[in-house]
Amino acid sequence: MSDGLEDVVAAHTVMSEVDGQRGVLIIRGHSLDELAGRARFEDLASLLFSGFFDDLPSDLTAALGAARVEVFSEVAGLDTGLLDRSPIEAMRALTARLADGDDLATALRLLAAPAVFTAAVVRGQAGEAPVPPDASLPHAADILRMLRGKPATQAQIDALDTYLVTVSDHGLNASTFAARVIASTRAGLTSAVLGGISALRGPLHGGAPGPVIEMLDEIGQPANARAWIESALARGDRLMGFGHRVYRVRDPRADALKTAVRKMSEGSNVRPGRVAFAEAVEAAALAILKEHKPDRALDTNVEFYTALLLEALDFPPAAFTCVFAMGRVAGWIAHAREQVAGGRLIRPQSIYVGPQPRQAA
Ligand code: CMC
Repeated sequence: MSDGLEDVVAAHTVMSEVDGQRGVLIIRGHSLDELAGRARFEDLASLLFSGFFDDLPSDLTAALGAARVEVFSEVAGLDTGLLDRSPIEAMRALTARLADGDDLATALRLLAAPAVFTAAVVRGQAGEAPVPPDASLPHAADILRMLRGKPATQAQIDALDTYLVTVSDHGLNASTFAARVIASTRAGLTSAVLGGISALRGPLHGGAPGPVIEMLDEIGQPANARAWIESALARGDRLMGFGHRVYRVRDPRADALKTAVRKMSEGSNVRPGRVAFAEAVEAAALAILKEHKPDRALDTNVEFYTALLLEALDFPPAAFTCVFAMGRVAGWIAHAREQVAGGRLIRPQSIYVGPQPRQAA
């Protein structure tokens, strides 16, 4: 067994399949190509939840809108102590105020929580008052309105929906595994989601896109890319937005998001030249990674174009992981329900390699 458990199958799931050799992602019977840019987040959450809640409405839009309004009352707990923390810590702390449970009402509150709390945290950190949710709006439209205090364009709403759908589920990634382990103890959905958020925030999982922006900003122009990347690798740093535990080819989510960023740039939401610059850095990174690790296929992952997309939507880089949580929370909830429905307590073995007690002489 390897330390990273990559050779261990720890669940049977109907949620998603990640084919790392072919670069294909299937979510509940639909390829990412069929979903990204077509489905709204509400549709995707319905798809993931289907069969795991008895009282699931055919359209979640109204119920999710009502849940946003319901959880907004917890924003009153956002004090200066929390506003001094990173956005993900503050968002997680507000989420921890929600009661645990296993029913659809709990699931909907948890689906709403990262969206409502992140918008309030980002505004609070900028010295601005929170904007209450509008239950009548679709989820992505309301997220952008709560973030900026004004309605978003349809192109921006579509881009955020594409992002949320694209990251909604992805096999047994670290945060989903954490959520399933917690759910397997019958601790409840809130506990499972809090575990998911905590696992997601690390840079090897969902914490990479903020540092992608730092990398692009430090590189500044394409001519600097090679020298910057080579010195980062010489220091032993990993390039954020590249490499993946499962994909040995390009992460299909990278292209879904690149297409969404391109669509937005047609409506001039993206800084002029930003996509071309990012592509130049990406090309340099891929060439240098090939020289650096000839035996390991390291390609672009989801986080590289996530960074460009969320930047164009006005999310601050420090809050990018919170936006990842807004999408992945649907997967965590669905996996937690699936684990409880069919799974046993997850309790693996370890091999003790420490010293034995001294024998009595
Ligand atoms: N830059 C430089 N070297 C790398 C990178 C990278 N991005 N990724 C892997 N390597 C090296 C790694 O250092 C290792 O070298 P050595 O054998 O000398 O120690 C070799 O390639 C093999 O890597 P690995 O340890 O098998 O990779 P892993 O499966 O443990 O890690 C990863 C996967 C995504 C954590 C890693 O590629 C990485 O750290 N990437 C940068 C961070 C990042 O982009 N994270 C977002 C992941 S995608 C979101 C998600 O789906 O969770």
